Amino acid sequence: MAESKLENEQLEVLNILKNFDSDPSELIHCLQTIQNKCGYVSEFAVKQISQKLNVPESDVFSVVTFYSQFTLKPKAKYNIEICMGTACYVLGADKSLKKFENKLGIKLGEQTLDNKFSLKQSRCLGCCGLAPVVSINGKIYGKVTEDKVDEILDELV
Ligand code: FES
Repeated sequence: MAESKLENEQLEVLNILKNFDSDPSELIHCLQTIQNKCGYVSEFAVKQISQKLNVPESDVFSVVTFYSQFTLKPKAKYNIEICMGTACYVLGADKSLKKFENKLGIKLGEQTLDNKFSLKQSRCLGCCGLAPVVSINGKIYGKVTEDKVDEILDELV
């Protein structure tokens, strides 16, 4: 991450914290605000929240890791979810997955270093008639055969 971007994020965290009192009961609200504005709760943010709200760092960290709404790393710009439900699997979802992995240079469950793409699998996305199905940031792509992966990625970059 570029240094100036990091500094901007840290300034954003400090600005957000100015609006909070030193009240431990504000922890969730504070974390939600930082997650929404910054896209994640950084290690820097955890330390600053701990000091501002008088909550031990370990407690702040526990809350961040317990609730799925919070992330310690920036979320990817494009979250690619490959359906591995039965209908999609039998029509070759595993081959599309391999192609996504090769093209992006990451494995299932990972995120590219530039935080542009993440790769996950899911169970039935509820549109088996379009199998094999891929969801990207909630948008459904149907009939995603191996050959269609290039086309989809080209559309995103
Ligand atoms: S099994 Fe993939 S959408 Fe249903």
